[in-house]
Amino acid sequence: QMLMRITSGTPVPAPILPDNCTSEEGCCMPQPYTGKPARDFEGDLALPIRIRRPVHKLNESEIARLERGYKLLRELPDLDPRSLSNQANLHCLYCDNGIYYNNMTWPLEIHNHWLFLPWHRMFLYFHERILAKLLDDDTFALPYWNWDNQSSSEEANILPRIYSTNETSYLRDLNRNKCAQPPNLVHLNSIGGCTDKTADELRIENTQVMYTQIVTGAPTPRLFFGEPYSYGDSGGYGPGTFEDNPHGTVHLWVGDPDAATAFNDMGNFGRSARDPVFYTHHSNIDRIWTIWKTLPGKQRTEPTHADFLDSRFTYYDENADQVIVNLSQIINTPLLR
Ligand code: C2O
Repeated sequence: QMLMRITSGTPVPAPILPDNCTSEEGCCMPQPYTGKPARDFEGDLALPIRIRRPVHKLNESEIARLERGYKLLRELPDLDPRSLSNQANLHCLYCDNGIYYNNMTWPLEIHNHWLFLPWHRMFLYFHERILAKLLDDDTFALPYWNWDNQSSSEEANILPRIYSTNETSYLRDLNRNKCAQPPNLVHLNSIGGCTDKTADELRIENTQVMYTQIVTGAPTPRLFFGEPYSYGDSGGYGPGTFEDNPHGTVHLWVGDPDAATAFNDMGNFGRSARDPVFYTHHSNIDRIWTIWKTLPGKQRTEPTHADFLDSRFTYYDENADQVIVNLSQIINTPLLR
């Protein structure tokens, strides 16, 4: 497929989510569901500030709450757009040729350019709010998988045990790389499958990956977020340093190289969000974005171009209603609580 840049000078408008299955993976969303028209997101300043904690340090009641949330999520009916598989379908629509605008050649794509980080932050926001609603607990926060922490006295850089070792857990996914099971350490340069590197070698290499991709290699918004993307552009010509590696490499490391579709679930765009570990992985992505802004250097800020700030995306909220978010709201973390 030839990739080209149209550079319309227009931000991406909020897509109408299709209810047919034209995407490569057949990602259908049930709709209309509540029958209400999509409304603009306003944020809710009455919500408590939610603190995301490292997954390897959750206490028993936090683990039980998380388990119960995913149990309730998995029990939602197939037709509910908030179900785990429909949330995965929504992610899939946005990246698997599922959304076409009238008169545009290329489908909307939210990977491999500057929309990647903000789109996923908001996807996670609604995932968290949906779990909070099911749990009837507005203080619920997703945990983050702290794979950037290479300390040998903590279990931060392994596939989180609560997501992987208990066979009856609702946090498990059956399609995973057998070499990504604890106690094997994550490989932030993974190309999928197994590695014969030792734990000490992996700790050193992972630390180098973090340093080159987040610190020295990404001193500007363009390097960190990736290339610009405007209405009508094709995707795929410029991920930021962070998106490829470690973000993408962790996806590949978790996915099963021997699955019928190689690297299902986590290593395949269309299916990755079916694995609950997707959300704790992206919670760490969100956290590192925030930390990146505090590193030394004058340009560690979000892009300021209107094609970035005024892009708009459609999601489903905790009440199964469609809601349209303006990108400038997504970088307003106080608004997101
Ligand atoms: Cu849309 Cu981690 O990917």
